[in-house]
Amino acid sequence: MSDLDTLLTENRSFPPSEHFRHQALVRDDALHREAERDYEAFWARHARELEWMVPFTDTLDWTPPHARWFHGGRLNVSVNCIDRWVRGPHRNKAAIVWEGEPGDSRVLTYWDLYREVQKFANVLKSLGVRRGDRVGIYLPLIPEAAIAMLACARIGAIHSVVFGGFSPESLRDRMNDAEAKVLITADGGYRRGQVTALKRNADKALEDAPTVKHVVVVQRRPGGMGDESFAQMREGRDHWWHRLMQSAKAECPPEAMDAEDVLFILYTSGTTGKPKGIVHTTGGYLTGVAATTKYVFDLKDDDVFWCTADVGWITGHSYLVYGPLANGTTCVMYEGAPDWPERNRFWEICEKYGVSVFYTAPTAIRAFMKWGEQHPARHDLSRLRLLGTVGEPINPEAWIWYHKVIGGLRCPIVDTWWQTETGAIVISPLPGLTSTKPGSATQPLPGFFATLLDSKANEIGVGGGLLALTRPWPSMLRTIWGDDDRYVQTYFTKWADRPDLYFPGDGAKRDDDGFFWIMGRVDDVLNVAGHRIGTMEVESALVEHPAVAEAAVVGKSHELKGQSIAAFVTLRDGYHQSPALRDELREFVAEKIGAIARPDDVLFSADLPKTRSGKIMRRLLRDIAEGRTLGDTTTLADPSVVASLKDQYEAEES
Ligand code: WT7
Repeated sequence: MSDLDTLLTENRSFPPSEHFRHQALVRDDALHREAERDYEAFWARHARELEWMVPFTDTLDWTPPHARWFHGGRLNVSVNCIDRWVRGPHRNKAAIVWEGEPGDSRVLTYWDLYREVQKFANVLKSLGVRRGDRVGIYLPLIPEAAIAMLACARIGAIHSVVFGGFSPESLRDRMNDAEAKVLITADGGYRRGQVTALKRNADKALEDAPTVKHVVVVQRRPGGMGDESFAQMREGRDHWWHRLMQSAKAECPPEAMDAEDVLFILYTSGTTGKPKGIVHTTGGYLTGVAATTKYVFDLKDDDVFWCTADVGWITGHSYLVYGPLANGTTCVMYEGAPDWPERNRFWEICEKYGVSVFYTAPTAIRAFMKWGEQHPARHDLSRLRLLGTVGEPINPEAWIWYHKVIGGLRCPIVDTWWQTETGAIVISPLPGLTSTKPGSATQPLPGFFATLLDSKANEIGVGGGLLALTRPWPSMLRTIWGDDDRYVQTYFTKWADRPDLYFPGDGAKRDDDGFFWIMGRVDDVLNVAGHRIGTMEVESALVEHPAVAEAAVVGKSHELKGQSIAAFVTLRDGYHQSPALRDELREFVAEKIGAIARPDDVLFSADLPKTRSGKIMRRLLRDIAEGRTLGDTTTLADPSVVASLKDQYEAEES
C-alpha cells in the first residue's frame, strides 16, 4: 500500500513576469548552487550579514537530533533589529505602521523603537527580570507587543507570547510550564467592535500561577477602557505600563547573548495533548528569519510589508517582528478583524498605507472569496507587487482568485510551507525565479533540504509520501521546553535508525518537476478501500464548485471500505443548501478526482470548527462523523460551531 495516493492534477504554471524578474533580488539558481555545494558555508555567510559582538568560529555542531549553530558567537537580537538601522540613514524610517481596530493609528520609526525598547528593557530590569528569566506576553496586536519582545531580547530574558484570544486556563498552563516571572498584558483589545478583557483573563489565570510576581498593564486607550471594570490593579503586583515608562531611562546596553541562548518559547497546541513549548535560540533563528524574509518577500528599501498574523503565532514572531526588522523594513500591523466595521477593511488598509507585499492565510482568502469581489474592488491595490500565503494548503481555486482579484494578475504568489518548529519558511517559491503552480509550495529554499519518503525511509521520486527534512537548519527548534524526550520522540523517531531525519508530520506529493504539494497532516489522511487520500485533494475539488466557499473532509468507519468520506461544506453567499446540491457535490468530486473520493455524506454548515489560528479541527469533525462525544474543544475559536454541527449531523442521520 502506498503511503499516500495522489488524485488531483493541476497543470497551470505561472512564471514571474519579465518586469518582476528584472527587479528581483533572486533571478537565477546561484544561491541554490552555493547552498548545495556547502550548506554550512552558505549559512555562515548569511549569519555574518548580522552584527556580532563576538564572531562565531564554529558554524554547526550536529549530534542528531541536536544541533548547535554559531555556538560561541555572541550577538543581540534587538541590536540587529534596531540599533543597526538607527546608526544609518534608516534612523527616521517607519518601522511599525500600526492601526487599531477602532481606527486609531501610530507610526513608530526605528528611532522611536530604539528609545521605547530600551526604556521598557529598563522597566523589566527594575521588576527584577534577569538574563534567562521568562516573561509572558498576553497582549492585543499593538506596538507594545513588539516593544516587549525586543526589550526581552535586549536583556536576554526569554519571552513567551500567548495569543490574546486564549482563555485564562490556557494562559495559566503556559505561564506555569515556562515558570514566568512577569506577565505583560493590557486592559483590553478590540475585536469586531468588542473589547476583549485581557486583564480580567490574566487575573483569573494568575490565581494559580505562583511564579508570576509582577504584571505590567498597557492602557490600550487612554481615557477609554482603562477604568476599573477592565483593570483592577492589585497593589504591589500590578503596574501600569505608561507609569513605569515615565521614569525609565532611555539607555539600556544590550546583553551579549550566546548564539545558542534561548530567545523565546512559543507554545503550539498541536491537535492533541499538552501544548509543546517550542524553543528557539538567538543566532540561528535570526539568521534564518532574516535571510528568508529578504529572499521570499524580495524586500527592497521602499517596500511596505504587511503580514496579517498576530504576534501570538510563529508567523507574527518571524515575519511581523524579527524578520522584517532585521531587514530594516517598514511593516504594517493591524489590531482587529478583517470584516470590521466592513468587509473591505484589509483592502482599505492596503490602499491607505500603500502596502506592497501582503502575506496572509488561505482561510482568510477563502473568507474574502465568500464575501465577494466588490469589497476589494472599492480600493486602489495597485501598489501591491507580491502576495504570500501560509498556514494550510491553498486550494487552486483560492490561489487563482487571490492572483486575479487581489494581485491584479501581476503579483507573484509565494505559497510558503513551514511550522512553528522550523522557525522560518522552508519550502517556497522565490518570486523572481520560480514558475509557480496553484496549490504547490514548490521547492525548498536554498539552505533547506526536504524529501519525500515512504515509511521505510525509501525516497519517493514522483508520487505521494511523508515529508522529511534531511539536514539541520539554523532556525530549527532546539528542544521542547522542559521535555527533551518529547522533542526526540515527536520529531526524530519516524524512521528507525535515522535519528537525523526530521519528520514534520505532513504528507506531501511530488510532481515531475520535483515540486512539493503539501497534503496536510498525516493524522488527517483518509483511508478508503486501501487508498490513502489527503484531505486537501477532496477539499480542493469541492471548493472548485461555484457554490462552495469552504470544505473539510474526514474519514468515517465503514464496514466494507475501511473508511468512507464525510464532507462538511459552507456555501458562498447567495447559494442555498438542498438535497439536489448535495448529490451534485458528490458527483462533482467523483468526476474531478475519481469515484474513490466520492463523499458518502455531505453536511452543509454556516461555519467550520477552527482553531484560533484558522486551522480546521478535523479531529472534532471525525468525532461528529463517528457519533462520538466531542474531544477537547478549548482551543476552538468558537465552540458553538461544533456543538450545532453535531446536533445537525445527528438529526440528519436519524
Ligand atoms: C503546519 C504548521 C508556519 C506558520 C503557520 C502555521 C501547515 C503551513 C503551509 C502551506 C500547506 C501548510 C502544515 C504545517 N502548513 N504552511 N504553505 N501549505 N500546509 O504554523 O501552527 O506550526 O502549523 O501548518 O501542516 O505542518 P503551525
